[in-house]
Amino acid sequence: MNVLVTGANGQLGREMRLVSRDSNNHYIFADVEELDITNLDAVRKMMKDNKVDIVVNCAAYTNVDKAEDDEATARRINRDAVENLAVSCRENGATLIHVSTDYVFPGNGCIPCREDMPVSPQGVYGKTKLEGEEAIQRVGCPYLIFRTAWLYSEYGNNFVKTMRRLTKEKNELNVVFDQVGTPTYAYDLAEAICEIIELEQYKGNEGIYHYSNEGVCSWFDFAKEIAALSGNECDIRPCHSDEFPSKVKRPHYSVLDKTKVKKTFALTIPYWKDSLKDCIDRMKFEDRVYQFFDTLKATKE
Ligand SMILES: NC(=O)c1ccc[n+]([C@@H]2O[C@H](COP(=O)([O-])OP(=O)(O)OC[C@H]3O[C@@H](n4cnc5c(N)ncnc54)[C@H](OP(=O)(O)O)[C@@H]3O)[C@@H](O)[C@H]2O)c1
Repeated sequence: MNVLVTGANGQLGREMRLVSRDSNNHYIFADVEELDITNLDAVRKMMKDNKVDIVVNCAAYTNVDKAEDDEATARRINRDAVENLAVSCRENGATLIHVSTDYVFPGNGCIPCREDMPVSPQGVYGKTKLEGEEAIQRVGCPYLIFRTAWLYSEYGNNFVKTMRRLTKEKNELNVVFDQVGTPTYAYDLAEAICEIIELEQYKGNEGIYHYSNEGVCSWFDFAKEIAALSGNECDIRPCHSDEFPSKVKRPHYSVLDKTKVKKTFALTIPYWKDSLKDCIDRMKFEDRVYQFFDTLKATKE
């Protein structure tokens, strides 16, 4: 099978590269330079030329704050481009595996969000991501949508990398404790998607699924664990969201209920602290490799 991964240089895209290495399927990785998904003709050509059977869409406009000031671009990437992929998948009989977000929910509940619970995004990012989901359903290609949350990896910009840096640089830090959810290690989500492809479980299981790591925490708890695993001694203090004024209303409670994804695909999902440790171990290993080459370079100079 030929699998096209779009947005392949982002956090999830790069983890897809890693986990698909030993696959018997043929993966084609493309980021915006190779395939701008806002261009329908380019999408059609790429799919036809490569006889694509499955598209994994990791491309998105993910800057939640910037989206408030640039709604047109966010909509072009999160809705219109997703519609392009859906149209092209329908024309080629291909399946679209798309990734969405907990931001489609209002975030004011107190029980884990199931796939069938009412959506009501509070900002431009969530609104345009929901429009992307609706576009796929309207076009009617075979699809799976994975809503995820609090995504991190050793690539790109994310909370884990920021907190690792800040808790090293600063003696004290305030982090919000009134926003609760579950982190997702992009590697785990990529592994789940690859397994579903390898085992051809996408067939006959169309629909929306929720995927994050297991457990629940606040950003404060998350930051404490990041600092501890990184060996950084910073005094992290809990604070309220209103101490960080923002244009964007962020969900106070966006824990995703993963019953459906686990039952349908017989998945075992790692606990968030275990996955965070794996990610930070990988970061530490990379730090040591960089240090080794820096030392080598310095001794040669
Ligand atoms: N990050 C989170 O916390 C989070 C939470 C919930 C859900 N999600 C969802 O999870 C998915 C993966 O997120 P991520 O964090 O891996 O995203 P990411 O790191 O921002 O990667 C997105 C990639 O898409 C590329 N891209 C942007 N416009 C494109 C276009 N027109 N054509 C092709 N590629 C384009 C970006 O390139 P440039 O960098 O050059 O723009 C980037 O490489 C997204 O659907 C996102 O909405 C993310």
